[in-house]
Amino acid sequence: MTHILVATDAWHPQVNGVVRTLTMMAEAAKSFGVDISFLTPQSFRTFAMPSYPDLTSQEIADLAAYVHYLRRQGRYRELTMDGDDQGDARAGETYFNANCAACHSKSGDLTGVAAKYGGAALRARVLRPSDDRAPTGTDRTAVGRLQHGKLLERYAQADVRNLISFLRER
Ligand code: HEC
Repeated sequence: MTHILVATDAWHPQVNGVVRTLTMMAEAAKSFGVDISFLTPQSFRTFAMPSYPDLTSQEIADLAAYVHYLRRQGRYRELTMDGDDQGDARAGETYFNANCAACHSKSGDLTGVAAKYGGAALRARVLRPSDDRAPTGTDRTAVGRLQHGKLLERYAQADVRNLISFLRER
């Protein structure tokens, strides 16, 4: 008989898809001559994650902003390392219409942006048009910077390639 040990933090008494899947998998595995045991929190003394009553809401908000800042820094580095700008311009257009067109138009404010920057600089402008400080205020620029920060946290590598190919297209 084959023995498999599965380590999981999702386990009874939780009721969810993961727990059900693991339980059913162990049942089914018996018929293949496989014995699955589970290493779960039930075998340990556990306690709830502590809260931080000494932090003010302002401090929590500042910490959250800092975590996002670090994440954007990491994403910026990761996405600028990809030197490949050969994307799918049609997919870029779709992405642009869904995520950028509320503020930009390729034949409006972004006219000539690809010619203006070219190469790595264009990529940098798309990823982070302005500095990385958390924007304050509600004016158009602040809202745009905030939105660029959010986009930066969720771009896939291919989204950026596609966007650049779309912006380059005449
Ligand atoms: C909520 C509005 C908003 C959205 C959505 C938005 N942007 Fe921007 N974008 C701005 C603003 C505002 C600036 C100018 C930022 C500054 O000067 O600090 C800017 C700057 C830029 C620049 C630099 C332009 C230049 O001439 O230097 C590029 C390129 C750009 N955005 C591309 C995009 C792309 C691509 C998307 C979608 C993936 C996008 N933006 C989504 C508001 C937005």
